[in-house]
Amino acid sequence: MKKKVVSAILSAAMVASLITGCGGGASNGGAASEAAPASEAAAPASEAAAPASEAASSEAAPAADTAANGDMTIGIAMPTKSLERWNRDGSYLEEQFKAKGYNVELTYSDNKIDQQVKDIEGLIADNVNLLVVAAIDGESLSQVLAEAKESGIPVLSYDRLIMNTDAVSYYISFDNYTVGKLQGQYVIDQLDLDNAGDKTYNIEFTAGDPADNNAGFFFNGAYDTLKPYIDKGTLVIPSGQTSFEQVATKQWDTATAMTRMQNILASNYSDGTQLDVALCSNDSTALGVTQAIESDYAGTNTVIITGQDGDEANLANVVDGKQSMTVYKAVANEAVATIDLADAILKGETPDAGLIDKAGWSFDCAYDTESYDNGTGVIPSYLLVPTVVTKDNIQTELVDTGYYTMGDDGYPHPVQ
Ligand code: BGC
Repeated sequence: MKKKVVSAILSAAMVASLITGCGGGASNGGAASEAAPASEAAAPASEAAAPASEAASSEAAPAADTAANGDMTIGIAMPTKSLERWNRDGSYLEEQFKAKGYNVELTYSDNKIDQQVKDIEGLIADNVNLLVVAAIDGESLSQVLAEAKESGIPVLSYDRLIMNTDAVSYYISFDNYTVGKLQGQYVIDQLDLDNAGDKTYNIEFTAGDPADNNAGFFFNGAYDTLKPYIDKGTLVIPSGQTSFEQVATKQWDTATAMTRMQNILASNYSDGTQLDVALCSNDSTALGVTQAIESDYAGTNTVIITGQDGDEANLANVVDGKQSMTVYKAVANEAVATIDLADAILKGETPDAGLIDKAGWSFDCAYDTESYDNGTGVIPSYLLVPTVVTKDNIQTELVDTGYYTMGDDGYPHPVQ
């Protein structure tokens, strides 16, 4: 169902004029799905003015273009609002597609696989012109995306690779293996593992959702980086839980990660054994692990805790010294890459590495035609570059760049 949302149109128009500098377009009706009420869909002017999205945005969309785009609708299927980042992804995508004059239908599926299939069926039935999908379960969309393909709707696999379907045209994400590598390298540097001599350190791993194709990349990137030190005996894993299957966290759920860590602490650390590192693949799991350590860990040392995303609660923990780092992925830029890619496809182009120069993005991005095979072949990928954020560089990496504002409370708050 499509609704005219006046405030969303106004907001889109404001973004359009900010981004394009020509005040063009966005005169068409913006469609908001029922899952994204108008109040959420419409970003306030202050948010629309976020320097991050402005800086990252590429070309000006000429008025004629945006008017033509007004005949087209982008269907965006996001996994859930319960994991913080997807709220940002959804609103950046919606805002910026609208700024280019497209109509948008945005769905969130409450982390329920069947719901996401239904939501995508709905978008296909609504005749969207292109689909942007962040899958809940990368293995469960083959059938519905076969329908999209039959209807001639191009599909962009957003952030998470959708497996076993030849309906996916491109994959846009960050370099997921590097995310894990950065976490592992952080641990190596903090503990100076190369000069550890006979000293040993205890580490526990917490990974993500096995249904999410990214989760294995994050875990492997971290584990492979730390493996030489595990093999040497410098890093010890008292729980013995070393395989991805053992350390995975269904749906990246905070409470699940907390309970698992409480069990690990009870079984392996209640005798006074020191935990030095909790390597967590992302912020939602790091939050649970941090809670478990706060409530159930007897030791007094500061445990090194890694994360990913820059979720608000986790950044507060970083400021407070409870979480050591997070790997930040600028989803505003991921959205910009997605929009420019979609725009090129809808203009009949076949984008390749050339899109990066043509779009003139202000952020680094690699075109990769080797790394991401979804079971039907390698999916051409645009991969952005993640950044390590610690207490020391929150200001320069997150606040000065315009992604967050520093509150009077001393904590960073996302602009969107
Ligand atoms: C994303 C991460 C996120 C996780 C849970 C992954 O697919 O790449 O950024 O932390 O999902 O939302």
